[in-house]
Amino acid sequence: MRVLGIESSCDETAAALVEDGTRLLATSLASSAAIHARYGGVVPEVAAREHTMAILPVVEQVLQDARLDRRDVDAVAVTEGPGLLGALLVGVTFAKGFALGCQIPVVGVHHLEAHLYANALVAPIEFPALGLLVSGGHTSLVLWKNHGEITVLGETRDDAAGEAFDKGARALGLSYPGGPEIEKLAATVEATSLHLPIANLGSDSLDFSFSGVKTATSDLIRSQPHRQAEIAYALQVAVVEALVRNVSRALKRYPVDDVYLAGGVTANAFLRQRMEQLGQDQNIRVHIPPVRYCTDNAAMVASLGYYRWARGIRMSYLAAPRVTYPLGQQ
Ligand code: KG4
Ligand code: ZN
Repeated sequence: MRVLGIESSCDETAAALVEDGTRLLATSLASSAAIHARYGGVVPEVAAREHTMAILPVVEQVLQDARLDRRDVDAVAVTEGPGLLGALLVGVTFAKGFALGCQIPVVGVHHLEAHLYANALVAPIEFPALGLLVSGGHTSLVLWKNHGEITVLGETRDDAAGEAFDKGARALGLSYPGGPEIEKLAATVEATSLHLPIANLGSDSLDFSFSGVKTATSDLIRSQPHRQAEIAYALQVAVVEALVRNVSRALKRYPVDDVYLAGGVTANAFLRQRMEQLGQDQNIRVHIPPVRYCTDNAAMVASLGYYRWARGIRMSYLAAPRVTYPLGQQ
């Protein structure tokens, strides 16, 4: 079963071909991140225009790379939401048109749930598991009982983990997206005596809050303007330790053997290292996708699309994108 995946929810236009949800045949991506960098964040109208230009070339590229014809595609999977409306519309409209033209089904997928499926491209998912989704717009800790069975255990009450990096980077005068920039700057020092607070929402809470660390970062930049690399280091420690703490708390309540990480922030080497350490300490398996599948891509969309297709889920040709789409809903 060959699924063509389409992703256009934010600033990346991506296509991929995946067989049976697990075997990647080809992947292609066009990013407008460099254009948005000028504005310090994603400009929705600019993103939509760039998707319009890029969508056909990325799809043609994956077909060419996989040496396949459009008649060899069995279904189309597309990110249905959550995301920017104009951006989602490009992918959803293209997917429906492609599927209609080829007389094949189209399956809508949830962008964050799709991030978890970056792991399915590495090895079959071991259920039940915990999932930690950390991206630019979301931070969620979930119980993943089976395909299509996701319960949200904790979420951010304000900023997302990626947003904390992006806003911290902006305050430090670094470019967008901020996560990689913070990581690079932090790597230039080995330690710091500076400390940024981790919000404590109660010892039994699995929620996150990153707005306090954002304000504290700005205060530190004002009071210690010559210690920028150390501030980046302290910010990275604060965000990562908040994530590790809640996964550790969740493991006490839900003693599973497998934890899956997903989302753009998972590209962060310090987070990867701390989570691997947690796995060793607690004698569980921590799965982290290769960096290229942590950020937005279409392989994860095609993978989840396959599993949704197998459960009989189809998108109506009349369906609009789901800009707000709670995680856990089908
Ligand atoms: O999942 P993603 O590609 O897009 C969505 O938000 O859906 O995540 C993007 C986020 C941005 O906030 C970016 O700063 C962050 O992931 N990010 C990182 C790193 N690479 C990307 N954060 C920390 N360290 C990184 N190396
Ligand atoms: Zn994403």
